[in-house]
Amino acid sequence: MTILLTGVSSGIGLATARLLLEAGHQVYGTVRKPADAEQLARYPAFSALIMDVTHRASIKAALQVIADAGQPLHVVVNNSGIAVSGPLETIAEPDYRRQFEVNVFGTLAVCQEALPLLHAARAAGEENVKIVNVSSVSGYVTAPFTSLYSSSKFAVEAITDGLRRELDPFGIDVVSVAPGPVKTPIWDKAKGQTKAFEGTRYEYILEKLDPYLESTARSAIPVATVARKIKEVVEAHRPRPDQLVMNKGWMVRIARQLPKRLQDKLFLKNIEANRRY
Ligand SMILES: NC(=O)c1ccc[n+]([C@@H]2O[C@H](COP(=O)([O-])OP(=O)(O)OC[C@H]3O[C@@H](n4cnc5c(N)ncnc54)[C@H](OP(=O)(O)O)[C@@H]3O)[C@@H](O)[C@H]2O)c1
Repeated sequence: MTILLTGVSSGIGLATARLLLEAGHQVYGTVRKPADAEQLARYPAFSALIMDVTHRASIKAALQVIADAGQPLHVVVNNSGIAVSGPLETIAEPDYRRQFEVNVFGTLAVCQEALPLLHAARAAGEENVKIVNVSSVSGYVTAPFTSLYSSSKFAVEAITDGLRRELDPFGIDVVSVAPGPVKTPIWDKAKGQTKAFEGTRYEYILEKLDPYLESTARSAIPVATVARKIKEVVEAHRPRPDQLVMNKGWMVRIARQLPKRLQDKLFLKNIEANRRY
């Protein structure tokens, strides 16, 4: 199969690209810095594309390269993403806009630009044509202080469900793969994000933040587990459309059915000791 996979510079994208290439697929992997593509250069079936998902022109240019190659495009995996944390009350406008620009509007823009090629593949008789969106457990439930990231992944879930229903008549499937915490550089990138807490009424959270991130990182699943799930979903005909990839994922599926006040209690356990009123 021919697959477009965004964000192969590190983490889930890099591991998934390797796995798909080793399985014999042709992978167009996107990076923002050309040097990041060198890690995959030894695979003859790998082609690097330069793409920033927040720049429409760069998405168009990348898709044009695939169109010019003349092979059908079977699958798009929207993996690029960032995690912005902080209290919703204080998070700065450029930061909250960036969260949505990358995770939501970037995903949508890649879908829009790639869909003509996916429709063309169907018209040429290709089977198993689909979009796979990398969402998150944060697209199922909302933890405090990563609520903005969560809202972006809830949007990714809605885009996934909506697109699947809109594209069903055209024989194009759309599914999401939602990992729980995974050992990737995204955690280190999140570590320095203290601006939204400092000097605000939420400063007391800061002392808990690094230990929390560290303990989450410790309980995180290996990146290879997520890569295997994405490969499985890419290759499967009509896979389950909402794939939650984490230990005890069933607990999350139950938790999100609970009454909201009960869900609050689960999330507020740690904050309770610091109640301010
Ligand atoms: N790690 C987790 O615990 C976890 C859990 C659930 C879901 N996820 C999701 O999994 C996906 C991959 O994350 P990861 O954990 O593998 O993190 P990562 O190692 O930081 O990878 C993120 C990828 O997205 C790319 N990216 C960021 N901004 C971009 C932009 N404007 N345009 C194009 N590409 C951009 C990055 O490229 P650069 O190197 O150029 O920045 C990188 O290749 C994300 O959607 C994330 O939300 C991660």
